[in-house]
Amino acid sequence: MGVQAGVQLVRTPILGVFPYEYGKNMNDWESYWNNIRSSGADGQVFWDAVAERASLEDLRRFRDYMNPDLPILDLGCGNGRQSRFLAQHYKQVIGVDISPSAIELAKSETSGQTNIEYRVFDAVDTESARALHDEFGDMNIYMRGVLHNVKMRDRPNFIRSLEILLGAQGTLYQIELPSRAILYLRTLPKEIYAKIPKITRRIGFNLEELHRYYPEEKWIVLDQGDDGIAISTIPLANGKEGAVPANYLVIRRRIVND
Ligand SMILES: C[S@@+](CC[C@H](N)C(=O)[O-])C[C@H]1O[C@@H](n2cnc3c(N)ncnc32)[C@H](O)[C@@H]1O
Repeated sequence: MGVQAGVQLVRTPILGVFPYEYGKNMNDWESYWNNIRSSGADGQVFWDAVAERASLEDLRRFRDYMNPDLPILDLGCGNGRQSRFLAQHYKQVIGVDISPSAIELAKSETSGQTNIEYRVFDAVDTESARALHDEFGDMNIYMRGVLHNVKMRDRPNFIRSLEILLGAQGTLYQIELPSRAILYLRTLPKEIYAKIPKITRRIGFNLEELHRYYPEEKWIVLDQGDDGIAISTIPLANGKEGAVPANYLVIRRRIVND
């Protein structure tokens, strides 16, 4: 699904070396996840927060807007930390990520939750979005820290995929980093800053520009916030979790003519 450009040898902690057909948007993230050896509180994944608190804050913001009978897609699920939390509250969770190594890690860290499935998926690839929608129908989408990393030139296709996946009934919750989050990231100790993938440092999603991505004639904003909103991280050198400035949106399609 979503793969287009050539075959390379990929090394993962779980599968060893295997040939994988890369999509054009995959390389940055695959090379990040491919080198992750430890996750959780003492691990290498900076944003790998305690889901019971991080996603619980999210859940309170979107729960009342989402139809609980629809599947929920954790788009850009990484190691599945938030997917596992969502599976305690929703009947069916699909965790998708562009990186095969992330998906392998998510699978290996998940046990006993039979209502989650994980897939490799590139949200910039609208054909893959169509195939996923054909399989699962309209979905709610949970997205934490993904769109702000997507290259500007890929954002129109990425948003088109969101439209396809949501269909007429789905609701999207996103929590993303504005461009100004870089000012916070730069205050972190050097060894922590170095662990943050470069792609995460270079771009953002600003609520002031939301209508550029979600124009009013096509989207209904149900809720939004950027005052005092943060994405929490694993404990930093001082033993406390970081709090990266963020914004959130709860949004639904106004017109569906797919
Ligand atoms: C900052 S991480 C956040 C991971 C997870 N949502 C969390 O909060 O723990 C961004 C994730 O988005 C994934 N990603 C980036 N671009 C993507 C795309 N086009 N399609 C699907 N996943 C993507 C990356 O591989 C990475 O796992």
